[in-house]
Amino acid sequence: MFKFSVVPFDPKRSLKTAVIFAQEKARLLPEAKSMDRIHKGVVVKALKNSRFQGGPGEVFTVAGLSGGERRVLVCGLGKLEEMKENDWRMRGLDIGKRIDELGLAEATICLGSQCGEASTGKAAEALLEGLHLALYRFDRFKTEQKPHQEARFRRVSVAVDRDAVSGVRQGLSGLEGLMAGSDLTRELVNLPPNIALPQYMADEANRLADLGIRVEVLDETRLKRLGMNLILTVGAGATKDQQPRLIVMKYQGAAKDVPFRAIVGKGVMFDTGGYNLKPTGSMEAMKCDMAGAGAVMGLMKALALRKSRVNVIGACGCAVNVVSDKAYLPSAILTSYKGLTVEIGNTDAEGRLVLADSIAYVIDKEKPRDLIDLATLTGACMVALGGQYAGLFSTDDGMAEALLASGKRTGEKLWRMPVDDAYAAKPLLADVNNNGNRYGGASTGAVFLKKFAGETPWAHLDIAGVALSEKIPEPFLQVKGATGFGVRLLVDYLENSSDGER
Ligand code: BES
Ligand code: MN
Ligand code: ZN
Repeated sequence: MFKFSVVPFDPKRSLKTAVIFAQEKARLLPEAKSMDRIHKGVVVKALKNSRFQGGPGEVFTVAGLSGGERRVLVCGLGKLEEMKENDWRMRGLDIGKRIDELGLAEATICLGSQCGEASTGKAAEALLEGLHLALYRFDRFKTEQKPHQEARFRRVSVAVDRDAVSGVRQGLSGLEGLMAGSDLTRELVNLPPNIALPQYMADEANRLADLGIRVEVLDETRLKRLGMNLILTVGAGATKDQQPRLIVMKYQGAAKDVPFRAIVGKGVMFDTGGYNLKPTGSMEAMKCDMAGAGAVMGLMKALALRKSRVNVIGACGCAVNVVSDKAYLPSAILTSYKGLTVEIGNTDAEGRLVLADSIAYVIDKEKPRDLIDLATLTGACMVALGGQYAGLFSTDDGMAEALLASGKRTGEKLWRMPVDDAYAAKPLLADVNNNGNRYGGASTGAVFLKKFAGETPWAHLDIAGVALSEKIPEPFLQVKGATGFGVRLLVDYLENSSDGER
């Protein structure tokens, strides 16, 4: 992560690159104007001779200033008065992408005090978040990278009004933790399926123990003893060293008597579909099928680093869905941890099986106040919402409202979808059937999960379309590879809805 600092705005003192802002009709903000004055009007002249309109997404570069070494990036905002927190985040992404293209090492962002509907502090935080999201790289397997291609950005200062400096500085205290969590999630999702296996996730969790998180890993022997046949059966086709793991992490940042809240992630490390094998074209992106578990891991790291005053249990149900002589068959009937019998209509509807046992176990053992699961659960949700929104399914309006609000603030947007028993797959010989189809399939998955959450207030986030940008024409945040979806959303949700704890 690059280093960031907050400084009082002074047009005479900035790093080699100054980022300034313009609104509609290319009108410069006050700080931008004083920057232009320092450069003798060259910036305004350059803008006049261009197509630049000051709209969102536009970033104009004026290079070669002050005898060559200085540079100004003019970032378009559109309507300044309507700027919300997430708009600043999106502009941070615009700036970050340009910084990466240009290979810059440092920049001063001249923010000033006009931030539209957002406070200066929130705007600064969101800008830096966007910058960080845009500058993330996963290049560790590129052994032939040339120096000119390497990541360069090291340092950014945000310039604000002198009297706002200390407040803004304080507001940024949790940013590093948030971004470290987001990076961890993106790394886990980006890692190839020959490396990111169930035990790799367990090892990763154990590394978090250093941050004060209690970690328990249930291996296949323990899972067998507990009767967690659904998760075991999904992973049965994998080799012995790739057998399922249920990872349970506990972070206690609030008082002991504050009830824990649970977040459970789908960790299908790779989803071939099993005997209901996925065709070519549908299988390639399936390393992302552990993005729910990846988000839980990153969330726990972020909470611990931020020292959030919340009590949270994070669980990851990890298994590999492959074909072999040990793999499960369509029409198998399994007895779940909860006791319900499950008929396998389709071995490719494996995520709900892994989650069903994970959810039931966490509820049974930990009795959380409420539970949210995250899963790349259905292609149907991806068809419905594309790469812009995740599906939100909940029987609890309070949870749903709070999650929707967090989605708006963080830009990890959610759209509420129905959880209605009318969508349930019809079982023939058992209590429930895991199948679904293209029509309303996201709700069929949700209805299945609801059975295993029982009376516990519950919400399900289907992140199939937003977890990995491959294969999506308009991906979430337009970033490459894994997006880290869920971490920023849930940090916001947990910190803001854990009443009286913050
Ligand atoms: N992991 C997939 C869902 C998925 C699809 C995630 C695309 C990310 C991108 C899930 O396990 C799956 O295969 N779902 C089936 C369910 C069906 C067999 C009931 C689907 O969506 O087709
Ligand atoms: Mn599947
Ligand atoms: Zn899957």
